[in-house]
Amino acid sequence: MGFEQAWLVYAKREVSAQWAGVHTICTEQRGRITEHAAAELRTAFSQITGEELILCSRLPETEETGCILLKLADGRREGGYHLYEEKGNLRIEASDEAGLLYGAFELIKQLQLGSAFDGMDICKDPVMPLRMLNHWDNMDGSIERGYSGESFFFDHNEILVDERTVTYARLLASVGINGAVINNVNVKDAATWLITDRYFEKLRQLSAVFGDYGIRLFLSLNYAAPIELGELTSADPLSEEVREWWKRRMKLVFEQVPNLGGFLIKADSEGRPGPFTYGRTHADGANMIAEAVKPYGGLIIWRCFVYNCMQDWRDYQTDRARSGYDNFTGLDGLFHDNVILQIKNGPMDFQVREPVHPLFGGLKASNQILEVQIAQEYTGQQRHVCYLIPMFKEVLAFCTYAAGADDTVEEIVSGRTFRQTKCGMAAVANTGNDENWTGHDLAAANLYGFGRLAFEPSASAEELAREWIIRTFGGDKEVLEVLLFILMNSWKAYEMYNAPLGIGWMVNPNYHYGPNVDGYEYDRWGTYHRADHMGIGVDRSRNGTGYAGLYREPNASMYDNLESCPDELLLFFHHVPYTHRLKSGKTVIQHIYDTHFEGVELVDEMVERFEGLEGRLPEKAYRRMLERFRHQKEHAREWRDQINTYFYRKSGIADEKGRKIY
Ligand code: GCU
Repeated sequence: MGFEQAWLVYAKREVSAQWAGVHTICTEQRGRITEHAAAELRTAFSQITGEELILCSRLPETEETGCILLKLADGRREGGYHLYEEKGNLRIEASDEAGLLYGAFELIKQLQLGSAFDGMDICKDPVMPLRMLNHWDNMDGSIERGYSGESFFFDHNEILVDERTVTYARLLASVGINGAVINNVNVKDAATWLITDRYFEKLRQLSAVFGDYGIRLFLSLNYAAPIELGELTSADPLSEEVREWWKRRMKLVFEQVPNLGGFLIKADSEGRPGPFTYGRTHADGANMIAEAVKPYGGLIIWRCFVYNCMQDWRDYQTDRARSGYDNFTGLDGLFHDNVILQIKNGPMDFQVREPVHPLFGGLKASNQILEVQIAQEYTGQQRHVCYLIPMFKEVLAFCTYAAGADDTVEEIVSGRTFRQTKCGMAAVANTGNDENWTGHDLAAANLYGFGRLAFEPSASAEELAREWIIRTFGGDKEVLEVLLFILMNSWKAYEMYNAPLGIGWMVNPNYHYGPNVDGYEYDRWGTYHRADHMGIGVDRSRNGTGYAGLYREPNASMYDNLESCPDELLLFFHHVPYTHRLKSGKTVIQHIYDTHFEGVELVDEMVERFEGLEGRLPEKAYRRMLERFRHQKEHAREWRDQINTYFYRKSGIADEKGRKIY
């Protein structure tokens, strides 16, 4: 089995007579993307039905059946398509070539899922304009927060373009992803040189491969490039010399690398340079570079992950959760039209549970991208299974009240709330050069689900998981049922044995794996739980840091009041005694014990059911997953016991059910 093909594995299967009767692809289109759409259809049919499709430019005769027609026609959004059956032929109509490609992949999906041929009628327009992956790949080949091997974009400071790049582009296009940032947001060393002729040739090749699949290439940029490339002594965004430098540099880059989409920038964050050095704002910094890329249609994606990482744990006033909001709301409306603010889903950093970032709803006049992390940095590092689509669905469904009662995060990043076209969703990628791309085979469901979700946010997490399972592992009912059970319970299980009630962290510093309740408690990172022998939690109400008040009403009051604050976020917003009763009726301490015991039981059930799949999955994949499941089983116990023991020792309150706590 070709694991590198992931869900495009195209295994032979029994199909109906109509599917088996498909014999020709007809298209008058001659563009590169359409060529690849046709090629993909040919590969899929040849491998699934055994039929070698003929490619021709004429339209079928009136009586003829069994043709696939690819045709450009007006009326759809960019990337949208209409796939339908008519008189025994399948037609794909779209306004652009990307739409034809997405329509072709939709057709292949229907074939893989064994859907009915007759009466097929599927119309889809991508809901989010920008659907991006952010790779945190370093040019030496390592990946920051990478859990599936090394980079397939870089090795020894060189750019790689090979078969794997093509397969990667096919996989992305098949789920509708249309942009990829290939290098780490922490741009250092050789990566600073990506905008110089040292790398243009390879970038051109890479960009062409991406372009064939409707994907735009993006790069992360070093804000201090003018200095670090040795050309200027300042990066002050208001200096004429610096502005001119960027204009010259960007002219060169866009001329040399066609299809370049623009740049992602992390500035004034975790030691990266930025406009603060010169007493300037983020709007000054972003606009300077935006101006330089504007003539080429370039975008500047500016990250809002800006906070003070040199905090004093003794300081109860400074609140890291506030920082994104405090740094950016005052600048709303000042950014140029080709600047997009990229905002993490929560105000801290990709924890298993966080409230939605208050900049969603806080900003009204800025383009916005929602950033999520499918690299499972804090959610089990692709050794534990954690299907994140249910979490992303909750984030998208969160009502911000930005302009009215319907303004969910989805409405904002789809451009509906503020009538924007430069917005969407980005995921920190979970791929590497492991044979199966994502280390844990089940982690590929997050890559698949992310793309599909950004294209079609109304799809349910379960529907996406189901599609992914069938496409990857075929139609075995038992496999489907068990893997669906595992995926759909995995986030819940992980949250249960992790840090309780939205407080987060409690991990080993630096590499962020495994339990360590006080790991960050006396550190400089602004991530505290404030537990003592009486209680736990951070007071972010009006009596504390005031963070709750950053939301629009009625959210602000809901979080501010202990009574209305949802249980799952209680400790994020309030400091309470262990004996505080949750809405569930349990005390906080009993909730901690119960969830940690039950979370481990849920994992045990998942693993037991998984073991029942022996012989039904490709042997190699089964072994690979089994090894990880066994580790997860052990490691979930470690989480359970460390957390329970810590809080038992702190509080001195025994478990009502008398279970073993150390
Ligand atoms: C987290 C992560 C870093 C990363 C940063 C970011 O803090 O641990 O590795 O650089 O997020 O999003 O910029």
